[in-house]
Amino acid sequence: MKIAIGADHGGINHKTYIKNYLTEQGIEVTDFGTNTTESVDYPDIALAVGTAVRDEDYDCGILICGTGIGMSIAANKIHGVRAAHVTDCYSAKMAKQHNDAHIICLGERITGPDLALEIVKSFIGEKHLGGRHSNRVNKIMAIEG
Ligand code: RB5
Repeated sequence: MKIAIGADHGGINHKTYIKNYLTEQGIEVTDFGTNTTESVDYPDIALAVGTAVRDEDYDCGILICGTGIGMSIAANKIHGVRAAHVTDCYSAKMAKQHNDAHIICLGERITGPDLALEIVKSFIGEKHLGGRHSNRVNKIMAIEG
């Protein structure tokens, strides 16, 4: 499995925590930054991770900011990308099973590190169910044009 991860200054602690766990599990993780507490603009990170997940050989992406909201809004502006802002494990599972999300977005100021990690595990452990859910995902993508 290969995962792209990125965070703004509001999400670097979760990024390190999640990245370390995934790496220990033998998962290949590409870190798109940021790596300091210096303020950066979350759309820049969302664009880098979103385009990489869309265009390259990643299984999924993880984006973290203070709330997860800015990252999800920005990532969903990238053509072809479905990003889900999640704060619980059930939503993370559904984001993959039903919505076939490419990316989950987490908020470090909202969700504690251990729950964030469980959310990541829930997301990466699931598969899209296809069938009627594919029809709906196709309709989402048709809205995008
Ligand atoms: C940065 O202060 C903050 O706005 C950002 O991390 C995120 O919460 C935006 O949605």
